[in-house]
Amino acid sequence: MDIVTSSASDFGKPNVEIKSFPDGDSYVRLLNRIAGESARIFTRLHPNQNTKLMETMFIAKTLSGSNIKDIELYTPYLPYARQDKLWKQGESLSARYILELLHSSGVTKITTLDCHFIKKTGIFEYWGIKITNKSAADFIIEEAKKHLDNPLIMSPDAGASYMSHRFGGGHMNKVRGEYEKGGTAYRKIKSLKMEENTNVSGRNVLLVDDIIGSGGTMLRAIDVLKRAGVDKIGIASTHGFFLNGALEKLKKVSDVIVTTNSVPNETSKVDAFKILSNGM
Ligand code: R5P
Repeated sequence: MDIVTSSASDFGKPNVEIKSFPDGDSYVRLLNRIAGESARIFTRLHPNQNTKLMETMFIAKTLSGSNIKDIELYTPYLPYARQDKLWKQGESLSARYILELLHSSGVTKITTLDCHFIKKTGIFEYWGIKITNKSAADFIIEEAKKHLDNPLIMSPDAGASYMSHRFGGGHMNKVRGEYEKGGTAYRKIKSLKMEENTNVSGRNVLLVDDIIGSGGTMLRAIDVLKRAGVDKIGIASTHGFFLNGALEKLKKVSDVIVTTNSVPNETSKVDAFKILSNGM
């Protein structure tokens, strides 16, 4: 059976009722009779990732409590995937704990797009869950190329090079530093450089990454490229958060911006659930 939440209504007709109790606790009710041995849950887990994760666990637990053994979660963006490594002593390895919680709720498989800690496509097992990691790279690149003539395709850091390497443009090297002061856990970019002997002078360049968050990575990479004499610049990313006015800043320094609708925004030109459900 398929469970579709209202956050995935572009994929199918929602059939789960999700509300809040007066105190803010989540209320979840499956509208169809639970039947069969397997289920697929289609949902977005952003924005409001903490609440959405909790609701997803309630859905999965309701299914597994009714003897559904095989529960596959289809979600285009997996939250907490950037917290898969410890930077400072005592930090929480949130990527692992989220997967363990989903697993203990009954989720056996996840299909997602450009999961940050996997950095390649294929089927892998992490902390008890099988993850099929698909990439939106071909689709966002194809879309951006409609607006950018013969671009050199590069990623702004080595982590996203699996998205660009088949196109031959290489990647830049990014080093992050310490956390910024204040309440946001954000590590500043210490340096971002092109590989030696990369010539971008007079070329159009398309930067490809898995995530645009604060936009800091793209802005820094664009600055490097402009100093090196690049002509036009395109930006393609699977997940576009564009936090704190990042989209306005990026629009000023680029010629085209393309993302999927994993996190819907005005640059979403590629259908994330279409990629996720391909071959289903
Ligand atoms: C990190 O390594 C990712 O691939 C992205 O480059 C990063 O998450 C982008 O974040 P921001 O836009 O805040 O620099």
